[in-house]
Amino acid sequence: KTVAVLYGGRSTEYEISLLTAYSVINAMDLEKYRVLPVYIQQDGQWIAGPEIKKKLDYKDQLLLKEDRALETRAEHWLAPSAPSAVNNRPDIVFPLLHGPNGEDGTVQGLFELLNIAYVGSGVSGSSVGMDKVLMKDVFTAHGIQGPNYLSVPRFDWENDAPSVILQVKNLIGYPCFVKPANCGSSVGISQCLSETDLSAAITKAFRFDTKVIVEEKVNGREVEIGVIGNHKLSVSVPGEIKTGDADFYDYQSKYQEGKSTLIIPADLPEKVRAELEDVAKKAFTALNLSGLARVDVFVREGDNRVILNEVNTMPGFTQFSMFPLLWQHTGISYRDLIEKLISLGIE
Ligand code: DAL
Ligand code: MG
Repeated sequence: KTVAVLYGGRSTEYEISLLTAYSVINAMDLEKYRVLPVYIQQDGQWIAGPEIKKKLDYKDQLLLKEDRALETRAEHWLAPSAPSAVNNRPDIVFPLLHGPNGEDGTVQGLFELLNIAYVGSGVSGSSVGMDKVLMKDVFTAHGIQGPNYLSVPRFDWENDAPSVILQVKNLIGYPCFVKPANCGSSVGISQCLSETDLSAAITKAFRFDTKVIVEEKVNGREVEIGVIGNHKLSVSVPGEIKTGDADFYDYQSKYQEGKSTLIIPADLPEKVRAELEDVAKKAFTALNLSGLARVDVFVREGDNRVILNEVNTMPGFTQFSMFPLLWQHTGISYRDLIEKLISLGIE
């Protein structure tokens, strides 16, 4: 089978996508798959085939240069005869893109139009899963408990900031989180301890999006769980994140060595674990997802209730990322997980 691996992309998580794609491509069984890397530049230009070679040099900046094995493989897939993604229809596309213009249904729509199979969720699941406000509206409609939240469209903020500030005070309270509605990896997110921090946090979030979400801060443990499947769903063991000295699980804690610790499996009482699995499957079904998702929750301090934070339809996928590690501890190796996702996409 020919698998086109799409990476890069027009989002703030471009670099994460490169890391993820290198890990995935490097792990794939080249006897079994013909891998066709397709690189999307930050300006939206697509590059496939021999030309891509020079683009792979980008890995030097990503501290991947020790990875000689990868380079050898690069030669392998980038042989001069490597066809372009457009001229040679792949059997399936693996869109290893995070954030808007990749994880949000746009690229999925393109492959629907072209009638080419792809890994992961379809158009509606991806787009609703990308927009934290729409996602939480769906969870609310399905009776799944999450933190209180408020949607702030740019128009409202620019026209009547005092009313937004009042709503945050009345409906959300402090501390709270301010996030761009459509971003990942904690880009543009601030924690506000009091009203004094709010305006700057909202202004910052608007640098990344035209809609902002303000969320109640839930005191508790941060726990994540993997879901794979199309209709019949499997869940992984849960994992817990300890963020050390950071205020919250921000970009640095996520991607800098030693800034956070993953505890897999998370040590949770059986009852909590059962509730988590139930919430994860409900969330997956409510959003109309397929293939894979990582479901992020809080296990609330005091009553141990599972509070759903969000779902990621294309979670970080390097060998050291939570999602594949969760599956590894569940008994599915990194390589097997990739193969499983490819078969779910073709199914
Ligand atoms: N958005 C990042 C890639 C994640 O969810 O892991
Ligand atoms: Mg998250």
